[in-house]
Amino acid sequence: MKLRRVFAIAALVLLPFVLAAAAVVGVLFARQGGFAPYRVPHGGGRAVAGDAATIARGEYLARLGDCVACHTTRGGAPLAGGRAFATGIGTVYSSNLTPDRDHGIGDWSADEFAHAMRHGVARRGPLYPVFPYAHFAGVSDADLDAIYAWLRAQPASDFVPPPNRLEAPADSRRALIGWRMLYYRPDQTAPLDPSDRGRYLVEGLGHCAMCHSARGERGSLPPEGHFAGGVIPGVGWYAPPLDSVQLQRYSEQQLADYLRDGTSPHGSAYGPMAEVAYASLRWLTSEDALAIARHLKQIAPSPLRPQPTAVAAQTDASGKGADVYARACADCHGKNGEGENGAYPPLRDAVAVTAPDPINAVRMVLYGGMEVTTTGNPRPHSMPPFVQQLDSAEVAAVVNHIRRTWGGQDSRLTDDDVDAMHGIVID
Ligand code: HEC
Ligand code: HEC
Ligand code: HEC
Repeated sequence: MKLRRVFAIAALVLLPFVLAAAAVVGVLFARQGGFAPYRVPHGGGRAVAGDAATIARGEYLARLGDCVACHTTRGGAPLAGGRAFATGIGTVYSSNLTPDRDHGIGDWSADEFAHAMRHGVARRGPLYPVFPYAHFAGVSDADLDAIYAWLRAQPASDFVPPPNRLEAPADSRRALIGWRMLYYRPDQTAPLDPSDRGRYLVEGLGHCAMCHSARGERGSLPPEGHFAGGVIPGVGWYAPPLDSVQLQRYSEQQLADYLRDGTSPHGSAYGPMAEVAYASLRWLTSEDALAIARHLKQIAPSPLRPQPTAVAAQTDASGKGADVYARACADCHGKNGEGENGAYPPLRDAVAVTAPDPINAVRMVLYGGMEVTTTGNPRPHSMPPFVQQLDSAEVAAVVNHIRRTWGGQDSRLTDDDVDAMHGIVID
């Protein structure tokens, strides 16, 4: 009797907490889209035009979405999946998108495909956000259908990508429902208007924000970090903010050319941006490139973006960094970091020297880089690796020198910092 009373009182006391918890769960579940994302349409559905013009349009759009680069592993069949993506919680492998009925998406209807692209949920459950569905969500029906038609026209492959290697509880797709409740807010992104072409491509298929935004907890992309720049998780390179301040030094035309050519008088694409330029952006029509450039140059700076630093340019002309620079770098990048137009990028105001994080500069000096080959840059220039020629103290000194002198960064790297950045796997 006594015990029952204790339970009754305990239940009464706890009830409000249980109800409050249920209400919170309900609200969070509604905010990630409610039940709709989990109702995956199977089979049947409407027919999609598969004429040559639609397929060609689909190919162009798929290039902007970079589907092939992410869905192909080195040496593997195109679109058959298996490329590994390192994330904070383990490795996720891309899936087979070829028309193979058993191993690809051969038996998917156009509706099922559009659903996965819009909601990030497939038959097998919610998909990991390395698949940029949050960005693809705003792509028009007509464009998704064209991509679907193009995918159907590609050769089938029965390749089976390796299973994901993830830590518990993230290894369960159900756990992704929890992640979505905490971090996925489809209602906070304004719908995309295809007639606003630049914005439509940047925020949609281009999924530029996937790399160029500041990350929140557990790989999330909070709206306040949109295009604020940041270090890309799993990859380690720093991607700069994309806004009117960052892109001030480019004219609209120069920026459009940078996207298509992978090079410009203000910088060349390297690291993950080189892959984006090579696999995706070099295919842009000149009109689309210009529309994108116009849009990018109008983006208002996010409050979370690093403020351009006010540190006065400090020269240490007598120091070790300046010595190394004069000896090893000035031939290409110029005595005053001005570069050589049409051949070597300037270091003044370059991404790697103005970035709050020194990782790009250190990596470039250690391992060098090669510009991408494009129609507009048929004979790309390259930078040699210095890992064999300079010791860690010299690398730290020269990176401090260029970041202080031309980037306004109060850079104080030591040889230990450089050692710690050695051997980072380069993708
Ligand atoms: C940044 C890399 C990346 C890009 C770009 C990308 N994908 Fe993916 N995609 C993935 C990964 C990784 C998965 C697997 C996710 C998982 O296992 O949850 C995936 C899954 C998918 C799925 C679900 C397949 C299934 O069997 O469940 C579809 C459909 C898909 N992608 C289509 C596309 C299309 C179409 C494009 C181009 C417009 C594209 N993806 C671009 C990485 C990418
Ligand atoms: C896979 C990651 C990734 C994606 C996706 C990506 N970028 Fe980048 N981007 C980078 C990195 C890293 C850099 C810095 C290295 C460099 O300057 O090449 C960069 C640099 C740039 C720059 C040079 C900025 C400057 O100040 O010189 C521009 C412009 C740019 N990206 C535009 C875009 C656009 C537009 C898209 C979408 C169509 C995009 N990026 C998608 C990673 C990415
Ligand atoms: C043979 C010519 C050459 C030499 C020597 C050279 N570089 Fe470079 N550097 C380049 C080229 C070309 C690129 C663009 C590479 C790319 O796009 O992959 C580049 C890119 C860079 C970048 C990235 C700039 C950005 O836009 O963010 C940095 C930083 C850099 N170099 C620093 C140095 C330093 C420091 C040295 C001396 C230790 C040096 N470079 C020596 C040719 C050179």
